[in-house]
Amino acid sequence: MKTIVISIGGSVILSKDIDFQYYKKLADLIMRIAKDYKIYIVVGGGKIARDYIKIGRKLNFDEKTLDIFGILVTRINAKLLTNIINNSNSKIPETTDNALKMKNRIIIMGGTIPGHSTDYVGSEIASKTKAEKFIIATNVDGVYDKDPKEYNDAKQIIEITPDKLINKYGISWKSAGCNVVIDGPALNVIKNKDLLTYVLNGKKIEELEKVLLDKKFNGTVIKNKK
Ligand code: UTP
Repeated sequence: MKTIVISIGGSVILSKDIDFQYYKKLADLIMRIAKDYKIYIVVGGGKIARDYIKIGRKLNFDEKTLDIFGILVTRINAKLLTNIINNSNSKIPETTDNALKMKNRIIIMGGTIPGHSTDYVGSEIASKTKAEKFIIATNVDGVYDKDPKEYNDAKQIIEITPDKLINKYGISWKSAGCNVVIDGPALNVIKNKDLLTYVLNGKKIEELEKVLLDKKFNGTVIKNKK
């Protein structure tokens, strides 16, 4: 069975600007696509994870402990989605190997171990399942040449190689809760496993739908040069 992996930011599913219709539309879309594909969804931690990490950092918790707080929040967020999407797992797997053993058509999970983000978890599943598509659904319209939340003149990048992003951001994990578009360890997998990766705004269900249906979408494609 062909697979698609979607890494969806916690900031997307817990955003103030999305209403309850959003969850219904997301669930409907995923259930529709699951007729033809096995779908893995990895959910991020968002603001709640970062709030815990901020408090823990002030209390001098070590980085590993801070990551664990983040991971636990990602799993609660995953639990939210499993309750919305039919035919998904009810128990949240804690490793990608356990996720791969699950029989449901739609598997939803959060983080695994400290030292990376949920984008990395998504890239690991995409690599292990040889996924047709790896989709990173974040809270901006793709990858930009600089942070679009800070710079009005930031330009959206339509297509880029993982190498170029690695040159700019590196491949190491920075710190618990760090807020980069795609984390270094995930970029490394995208490059080495040759993953066809799409970055888009997960709040815009129509863009997610376009990528899933192979239509022209608003966002960024990351792929190695052939
Ligand atoms: P993410 O950084 O993946 O969630 O996980 P996010 O912030 O929702 O992602 P975006 O930016 O909106 O797309 C939250 C934190 O949990 C820890 C890390 O500290 C991470 O920053 N984590 C998550 C891990 O240590 N390991 C994991 O496998 C996943």
